[in-house]
Amino acid sequence: MCGIFGYVSSKKTSPRRVLAGLKRLEYRGYDSWGIATISNEKISVKKRVGKIGAASVGDLPEGYIAFGHTRWATHGGVTDINAHPHLDCKNEVAVIHNGIFENYESVKKDLIKNGHKFVSETDTEAISHTIEDQIKKTNFPEAVRKTFNKMEGLNAVIAICATDRSLIAARNGSPLIVGFGDGENFLASDAAALLPHTKKVYFLEDDEMAILTDKSVKVVDTKSGRLKKVKVQKITWNLADGEKGKFKHFMLKEIHEQPRVIADIIGSGTGPAQNLSKLIKSSKGSYLIGCGTASYAALAGTYLFSKIAKFHINSAIGSEFGYHLDFLNRKSLVIAVSQSGETMDILESVKKAKNKEAKIAALVNVLGSSLYRMSDYKTLIGAGPEKAVASTKALVGMLSHLILTAFALDGRVREGQITLNLALESTKNILTKKSIGHIKNLANKLKNKKHIYVIGRGLSYPASLEAALKIKEISYIHAEGLAAGELKHGPLALVEKGTPAIAYLPNDETYGANLAGAMEMKARGGYIIGVSFKPHEVFDYFIPVTDAREATIIPNIITAQLLAYYLTIEKGFDPDKPRNLAKSVTVK
Ligand code: G6P
Repeated sequence: MCGIFGYVSSKKTSPRRVLAGLKRLEYRGYDSWGIATISNEKISVKKRVGKIGAASVGDLPEGYIAFGHTRWATHGGVTDINAHPHLDCKNEVAVIHNGIFENYESVKKDLIKNGHKFVSETDTEAISHTIEDQIKKTNFPEAVRKTFNKMEGLNAVIAICATDRSLIAARNGSPLIVGFGDGENFLASDAAALLPHTKKVYFLEDDEMAILTDKSVKVVDTKSGRLKKVKVQKITWNLADGEKGKFKHFMLKEIHEQPRVIADIIGSGTGPAQNLSKLIKSSKGSYLIGCGTASYAALAGTYLFSKIAKFHINSAIGSEFGYHLDFLNRKSLVIAVSQSGETMDILESVKKAKNKEAKIAALVNVLGSSLYRMSDYKTLIGAGPEKAVASTKALVGMLSHLILTAFALDGRVREGQITLNLALESTKNILTKKSIGHIKNLANKLKNKKHIYVIGRGLSYPASLEAALKIKEISYIHAEGLAAGELKHGPLALVEKGTPAIAYLPNDETYGANLAGAMEMKARGGYIIGVSFKPHEVFDYFIPVTDAREATIIPNIITAQLLAYYLTIEKGFDPDKPRNLAKSVTVK
């Protein structure tokens, strides 16, 4: 969940570079931050609670080596002291860490017995003190390796030592990427942070440890200590893709990039959809799995496959998939859908499915991510780097691929492209100044509401769930997505005068029944926001969405992304960094 950036160079500039790197990664975690640098064989640390935003590190000495961390707290409250890096007793070792050191309590107890003094409440500090003990017996890289092997759980550990000119990084579970420069080398938890410096990278595998100096990068197996071969890869993303450009927030920029994402997927041909559809056809008992927004893409996939190709597929939430494993065997296919490819619940599910010999296909945005590497078949979403915590363009990419795959399953992939093209045009209509102004106006009307309901049926059901998620995660207004048919089974009791309800009414078989749901709410005082291809007298507010057949789910969801964004702006919150959340959930 945390952002990590490390730098080792032949020149003395490190703390500023690390600060800039961390700012590019803050979306991964942002309750506190910290940076350490080595100068004249002394470690200096600066760490603070809060967002890194306007921080400066002018008071840190310049050094040849530095690293930093943005935190998303797991063990220990959000305080300056609990922020990383963490030092040993002698201030000679500094450690930053992502993950959970599961057996830290017993390790910490022993360390205290042996005289170590702890200052924080974190599990991470036990790593620094263990390295301090190990270093008495061996060199620094070996001390880190031995310490790492004592740790249970899924972790990434990065360590520096005052008397050593290397940056050491070991991983098991949490992502770490090495960036290769000229007279300098980098380390980051996300490839996007490396883009200003280099496109040449190496994605550390589980149980690998990298030893970075200004001149070299060595990778060893954490278990055996044996040297491993490093195969350098090239990132295809461009620097501008990861910048805000003219937009005020990444979320707004990413919303506006969606027509480009759809157009790219149409333009990249039918190969990926054909391949995935063949794989699905040759398997028995397939699952689409995802977490958060990606879980709604997975759910939408079940409707799309059924509606377009008369094909059955199951869907499950990543954290629940473990309870479906009994059904899996070597004929099964698990399609894991994920923007980051690092979500722990997905990786864990995939590992378990692999143990059952199921085939694994990934629909993933990040090349080289853990999911990408552990899957047998891979489809890259092609949305480009997504930085806002609330996922937008990655979802539209996922849906576009699933729509094409559904048509490919039915032997009509060309029609899939035509349908997606309709979604592209409809999306462009929503992103016009006039249409955005209309949604902004609605946000102004709804900004003081305590609850918003969203209803849909069929494909508009996952759309409703996603719309509610977008609203609650960034504007902090309670929102609930419902299958309209369920209204009478409870939620109607909550409707009173002025309760806002967004009703999705696309030009499909759900129109009449969903309209009935909207009417039921209206009859109890509900304020009805109709998202539809045509107006209706029951609507108090009408958001027009031009019909895109089965792909109307895409523009429908985009209206909710904009509403959520402008509700958040109206309320004065930061849409890119919602409280308590992080972009990449790398813990269970
Ligand atoms: C986090 C993000 C969500 C995302 C979910 C799954 O909760 O804030 O936006 O949908 O993780 O992430 P993934 O990278 O697997 O799609």
